[in-house]
Amino acid sequence: MRVLVTGGAGFIGANFVLRTLETRPDAQITVLDKFTYAANPHTLEPVAGRVTVVRGDIGDAAVVDPLVAESDLVVNFAAESHNDNSLRDPSSFVTTNLVGTYTLLESVRRHDTRLHHISTDEVYGDLALDDPARFTEETAYNPSSPYSSTKAGSDLLVRAWVRSFGVRATISNCSNNYGPYQHVEKLIPRQITNVLTGIRPKVYGDGRNVRDWIHVDDHNDAVWTIIERGELGETYLIGADGEVDNRTVVETILRQLGQPADAFDFVTDRPGHDRRYAIDSTRLRTELGWSPRYTDFDAGLAATVDWYRNHRDWWEPVKAGVEASYATTQRVLN
Ligand code: NAD
Ligand code: TYD
Repeated sequence: MRVLVTGGAGFIGANFVLRTLETRPDAQITVLDKFTYAANPHTLEPVAGRVTVVRGDIGDAAVVDPLVAESDLVVNFAAESHNDNSLRDPSSFVTTNLVGTYTLLESVRRHDTRLHHISTDEVYGDLALDDPARFTEETAYNPSSPYSSTKAGSDLLVRAWVRSFGVRATISNCSNNYGPYQHVEKLIPRQITNVLTGIRPKVYGDGRNVRDWIHVDDHNDAVWTIIERGELGETYLIGADGEVDNRTVVETILRQLGQPADAFDFVTDRPGHDRRYAIDSTRLRTELGWSPRYTDFDAGLAATVDWYRNHRDWWEPVKAGVEASYATTQRVLN
């Protein structure tokens, strides 16, 4: 199978490429990636001989079209992915997440190529901390930020192209991922690398916001399950029952790195900060038979801490720039 992986030099896309090389050695993989600040060119270096890497924009039809023409499957991970950046400057979120997805859709439509579109549970908005409900495939879209609203728009474009033009596509909406190769702007790698460089972790607001954590390999195995067994035109939610609040995540990282659990700072809250995400993945589990392998979050987190401890070369070059940029908007409150 010839697989085009867009955004394959970013966190989840690169893990998808590495995992696919392990689990499906017959797949011929081409990565199309713009190599924005979020891509790390070193991630795919060890597999350079086994993967074709093309530097280009999913919004550039002249680049996209010939690649789609020679693929059996497109998996679209390419996106602007960070809420905090979307609040500082939403423009690239509109261009990549909306216009980029539109450009891919027109190309898969032209060549009748199968598409799997990667999305987020953030399209559903947020839940109250005391709400027993979790998101399902039937939950109404209600996104909060420029990031989540452009991802919601991209999902709706895919649904419209399925219904109006018969495009062969599936969509998955996954909860927060953790694991190796995640950019140090995101919660877990930011706090691990803060501790490793002598900076106190930074927690937004009261630290009681809840995210539903899933290991990136469980996410990518679910993506393959949907590609191989999912029904065309359908949406599947991916989650591993991993609800934890941010304060607990940070305290666990501190403990795992041998620091006092309270050695962190509260900083200015994110505007419009979603309170809680929670996924009900019953459909994926019962209809397609997927289940997560990483069910112990503390153990998965400890392995991730070890990975960052052992791969300083991968993250150190960008660490100071990320912290300098955060310092322009975030004030310590304690
Ligand atoms: P990331 O920011 O780490 O990687 C995104 C990749 O896309 C980068 O390599 C970047 O260079 C590339 N890219 C950006 N704009 C591009 C463009 N115009 N053309 C081609 N490539 C472009 O993001 P991630 O965390 O790996 O997320 C991947 C996908 O998964 C996104 O669609 C995101 O919405 C979704 N998702 C992420 C999470 C999470 O917890 N990180 C959870 C659910 C869903
Ligand atoms: P993040 O990793 O940005 O993912 P998302 O916004 O997609 O959920 O943030 C996860 C949670 O952690 C979110 O509630 C915001 C919070 N957060 C902090 O408390 N401190 C930080 O330094 C960062 C980056 C995030």
